[in-house]
Amino acid sequence: MTFTVLITDPLSEEGIQTLRDNAQMNIVVETALTPDELELRIVDANALLVRSQTQVTAKLISKASNLKIIGRAGVGVDNIDLDAATEHGIIVVNAPNGNTNSAAEHTMAMIMALSRKIPQAFLSLKNQQWDRKKYVGVELKNKTLGVIGLGRIGAEVSYRAMGQRMKVIAYDPFLTEEKAVAMGVDYGTVEEVIKKADFITVHTPLLKETKHLLNAEAFQLMKPGVQIINCARGGIIDEDALYDAILSKKVSGAALDVFEEEPFLDHKLLQLPEVIATPHLGASTVEAQENVAVDVCQDVLNFLTGGVVSNP
Ligand code: NAD
Ligand code: MLT
Repeated sequence: MTFTVLITDPLSEEGIQTLRDNAQMNIVVETALTPDELELRIVDANALLVRSQTQVTAKLISKASNLKIIGRAGVGVDNIDLDAATEHGIIVVNAPNGNTNSAAEHTMAMIMALSRKIPQAFLSLKNQQWDRKKYVGVELKNKTLGVIGLGRIGAEVSYRAMGQRMKVIAYDPFLTEEKAVAMGVDYGTVEEVIKKADFITVHTPLLKETKHLLNAEAFQLMKPGVQIINCARGGIIDEDALYDAILSKKVSGAALDVFEEEPFLDHKLLQLPEVIATPHLGASTVEAQENVAVDVCQDVLNFLTGGVVSNP
């Protein structure tokens, strides 16, 4: 029996090779399909492999009469309609561990670039300005990092921040005081984290409970001059409220890797000198892309050939 595996976002070749090595797999890589073209191609697919670009909607799933499994090379499954997949008996697997380290490193890079205004100073120098007064930063040592969402990435960021001699206060619905003590972080409610932190970084999934978790009300409670980091998901922070909080000087800086709508080429937050940003690059390292591709391809292979998934 042959299985058709349709890959619609760029995936590391190391992962795809896991599938190619099996004679039963017919691999189709099509990374530039329009939604209409995808609806035609999905009909023959037994497995669909995506990153975050492909939108796996209920409409697409309704056309996927032979589809058994959807693999997401990464953590967030918010581009997949999980209810529709469940309704059609299609399994969804992701690769939750492979990009943790890269996302944590990217978050730390953002915190350090933000605190020392490195991107702004670099741009100014590129524009032939030698300005040492405008780009005075703040130290991280002895500052408090508020971590909202202490899962895989939140925990890794916390350990790294402690290495910078920061104090960490965290909120996660599954965090207990005992676990916080064991990890060396302070335990707080969302409100306590928001009120006490000099830097706030969010590491939750985007759920209805976390949508606009940082909104106008939350910004009101924060310390004046707080700095905000989002390397998790656009939508956890209300972008209009962030914009206003920066204009009012409540927030002195923000580092954003993710946005409510992606991709974009023009965004009002990027007009503000206090904002630094990257185009969703948290997991964009050679290592992370290899890890997530290998994990998800192995899972899809195991499922198609043996009916089991591990979803590590
Ligand atoms: P994870 O599941 O390990 O951790 C998420 C944590 O959020 C969990 O501990 C959960 O209990 C907590 N949480 C859920 N609801 C919450 C709430 N209301 N308030 C506070 N905490 C809450 O996931 P992870 O691997 O650490 O990933 C975290 C986020 O980072 C996800 O949104 C993921 O998609 C995103 N991510 C982004 C990139 C990137 O390229 N920028 C890369 C990897 C992951
Ligand atoms: C993820 O959820 O894994 C990240 O957003 C990274 C990605 O999609 O590449």
